[in-house]
Amino acid sequence: MAKTVLVTGGCGFIGVNFIHLLLAEKPDWQVINLDKLTYAGNLHSLADLSSHPNYTFIKGDICDSPLLDQIFIEQQIDTVVHFAAESHVDRSITGPAEFIQTNVFGTFTLLEAAKKHWSGQGEHCRFLHVSTDEVFGSLGQTGFFTEETAYDPRSPYSASKASSDHLARAYFHTYGLPVLITNCSNNYGPYQFPEKLIPLVLNNGLHGKELPVYGDGGNVRDWLYVQDHCEAIVRVLEQGRIGQSYNIGGHNEKTNLQVVELLCDLLDAQAGPLAANKSRRSLITFVKDRLGHDRRYAIDASKMANELGWLPKVTFAQGIAKTVDWYLANQAWIASVTDGSYQHYYQKMYGDRS
Ligand code: NAD
Ligand code: TYD
Repeated sequence: MAKTVLVTGGCGFIGVNFIHLLLAEKPDWQVINLDKLTYAGNLHSLADLSSHPNYTFIKGDICDSPLLDQIFIEQQIDTVVHFAAESHVDRSITGPAEFIQTNVFGTFTLLEAAKKHWSGQGEHCRFLHVSTDEVFGSLGQTGFFTEETAYDPRSPYSASKASSDHLARAYFHTYGLPVLITNCSNNYGPYQFPEKLIPLVLNNGLHGKELPVYGDGGNVRDWLYVQDHCEAIVRVLEQGRIGQSYNIGGHNEKTNLQVVELLCDLLDAQAGPLAANKSRRSLITFVKDRLGHDRRYAIDASKMANELGWLPKVTFAQGIAKTVDWYLANQAWIASVTDGSYQHYYQKMYGDRS
């Protein structure tokens, strides 16, 4: 069925991959990308689509209610896929205000716009709120997050995402807004901004810089290739039950140190070692731990499998190899996003470790 989809935050990591997927696979869908272009949003990543007949880019803020009114009316939006957020835990620790503004107030403003413009419009409208497994807090050595796990966010980022999930759910229960929520584990793949673990290690490793590992490197994340996440979102949009939430994950738990060591080995193999007999593993540097660092995340994605028939297609070995290939082939992209503001942030976090 044809749709007119408002994608918020479409210039960020997952949004860029999602828009590429939609325009390749849904020829009768129109895509309107609303993005504020913060440090994390990069228009270059969608340059290949700029003249695509089914694609429109609008620079703007999800907190701007008159702009949202205009977009809903002029573009006749019937579907929202809401990615726009401040998304980096470390930034939320040093500057939480933006997270409250965009993630909480911005989501509220978007929900209000959908409620206003979809009133009486019937069943075909959908508001898919993209969220994270981090709302569930931190696991011990065993167990998994299910859709029934109680929320227990522990960073300003995850608390702001939990608030937005609660608002989205409240708009379903109170106003009957056709809301769907997804809670996904850590994504990796092309176009991820190089302040998150995997692209940061690839970028530093390529340039022979230190590879900062927080604490003892034993924190565990459940990694999912971004394309699998995007396909899961389409599946939920098309087949998910209104008012439900769906956990998405890769059943792919790794400690941070395992991930960093694997990336070092892949870089050595593909780009050559740093010097004769000098592996990039020698760049690994244990640094002060993140405040309130969640120890382990792991998703039980059986609802996605049993109800919607979704399973990840890309193994970690395949996905990480594709990711390394992409970063090696797209060093101009990395250069274009690691401009002054990124460098300033980087200095603040890590000091001069080059
Ligand atoms: P990202 O930080 O790479 O991109 C965020 C995008 O949102 C950027 O393009 C930015 O310019 C835009 N944006 C920020 N504030 C805005 C505003 N006020 N108005 C309009 N646009 C704004 O994030 P990402 O990694 O692509 O994550 C996308 C979504 O998925 C987020 O909601 C995040 O919480 C969620 N999520 C991410 C992961 C992950 O591993 N990256 C995992 C699970 C869920
Ligand atoms: P990150 O990519 O920031 O994602 P999240 O915090 O949302 O899981 O970090 C992934 C893990 O890697 C997390 O446990 C923190 C750790 N980490 C490091 O050890 N060093 C780093 O430089 C970064 C950015 C993260």
